[in-house]
Amino acid sequence: MAAITPTRPYHIIIFGATGFTGQFVVEEVARCAAESTDSFSLKWAVAGRSRQRLEEVMKRAAGRLSMPELSTDIEVIVADVSIEESLAIMCQQGVVILNCVGPYRFHGEPVVKACIENGAHYVDICGEPQFLERMQLQYHTKALDRGVYVIGSCGFDSIPADLGMLYTQKQFKGTLTGVESFLNISSGTEGSCGHDATWQSAVYGFADSGSLRQLRKKFGHNPLPVVGARIRKRGFVFYSKELEQYAIPFMGSDPSVVKRTQRFLYEEEQQSPVQYNAYVGVGGLFSVVKLFCGGLLFWFMVKFSLGRKLLTTFPSIFSFGLFTKAGPTMKQIEDTAFTLTFLGEGYSEGTEPSQGPPNTKICTQVVGAEPGYVATVTAMVQAAVTVLDELHSLPRRGGVYTPGAAFYKTSLIDRLHNHSIKFSVRSYQ
Ligand SMILES: NC(=O)c1ccc[n+]([C@@H]2O[C@H](COP(=O)([O-])OP(=O)(O)OC[C@H]3O[C@@H](n4cnc5c(N)ncnc54)[C@H](OP(=O)(O)O)[C@@H]3O)[C@@H](O)[C@H]2O)c1
Repeated sequence: MAAITPTRPYHIIIFGATGFTGQFVVEEVARCAAESTDSFSLKWAVAGRSRQRLEEVMKRAAGRLSMPELSTDIEVIVADVSIEESLAIMCQQGVVILNCVGPYRFHGEPVVKACIENGAHYVDICGEPQFLERMQLQYHTKALDRGVYVIGSCGFDSIPADLGMLYTQKQFKGTLTGVESFLNISSGTEGSCGHDATWQSAVYGFADSGSLRQLRKKFGHNPLPVVGARIRKRGFVFYSKELEQYAIPFMGSDPSVVKRTQRFLYEEEQQSPVQYNAYVGVGGLFSVVKLFCGGLLFWFMVKFSLGRKLLTTFPSIFSFGLFTKAGPTMKQIEDTAFTLTFLGEGYSEGTEPSQGPPNTKICTQVVGAEPGYVATVTAMVQAAVTVLDELHSLPRRGGVYTPGAAFYKTSLIDRLHNHSIKFSVRSYQ
């Protein structure tokens, strides 16, 4: 594990520990620290803008985990995104900062900058492509020069998709050329929902979706070559026999993250790039109609500041209860789970992709508990532990990376598998 020093005394600092997600991260890090041995004792601290609220979080976590020592032994660091000096002081004390302060488009950049300037690695759970890609454009060289890793999207967005793709590539015997993923979220009688901050990220992300095209132009990338047969894009709504329900294209950060990883593997590791399309199940016909009406209203409203104000003030109404200010209940969290299925095609060993249609298929799955706060937290904490344990297996000596690019040569998939995010090869139906 990366060495701590008297001046940098913490392996992990959880920034935004008072947030809805931050509180779960606190519990997961506490569990990990309790499992660590004397020779690898994990030292950690929490950070946020209110000492009192942080102390309350520690007390609550201590009660929930029956670990009274948490409320007295864990250091509390006061830091505010708007106070640069406070971020510097925080970043000087940690090897890895787990940034849970979002929406990232509003709060993320000063934290990335402070981490780079003060030599702390950075891990977040951002699902906002504009922020993730902009950080890569603006900070990759600076992070590389400083020997700092900045690894975004280490939550449910987009570790299961990105590492699921890596897993599928590794399991495929031959040249994998195209993959479609199908996300299914199952919930109990009370349904499932997300917390307000994720809804806000989505509202402002869709409102600003045009800027992504401009941003991508600035990278000046050539298009990735299409190897083998081109995979077709399905329609906007279609009946998926894979999911046995209607499905739509997945509008989160997964396609952006997976494509960036594929570019990294092509350019840095000379791997054959894999085409990727992502879909999500939405249920029966009634859900499709509801989604269509809600989607139209959403697209219209995000374009205007008054519309955005209404959307963010009344998340529950405009998302049909999918996002609420209170976030999911423990019962909803416990009863929810996800399955991400990858259907891939390609060419068996010894067959040239230029010689006709694909001749081999593969089906893999990533399965886990509730995505937003259980799988997200597991993924984020395991990503941080991998940075601490396997720093020398990360690419180059620093930089801004997707999870797939950063962890390509590490054991993160095994670590996730051992912590209830299961990867498997299935028989192709
Ligand atoms: N990738 C995924 O799958 C996934 C899953 C879950 C969440 N997320 C993302 O994670 C982020 C957090 O979500 P959440 O639901 O936990 O949000 P939240 O409950 O609103 O928490 C936000 C946190 O940010 C802190 N904060 C706000 N402004 C700050 C500032 N100026 N300085 C320092 N701290 C500040 C808040 O501290 P106070 O307590 O002081 O207000 C709080 O700790 C969102 O961007 C969300 O989209 C992603």
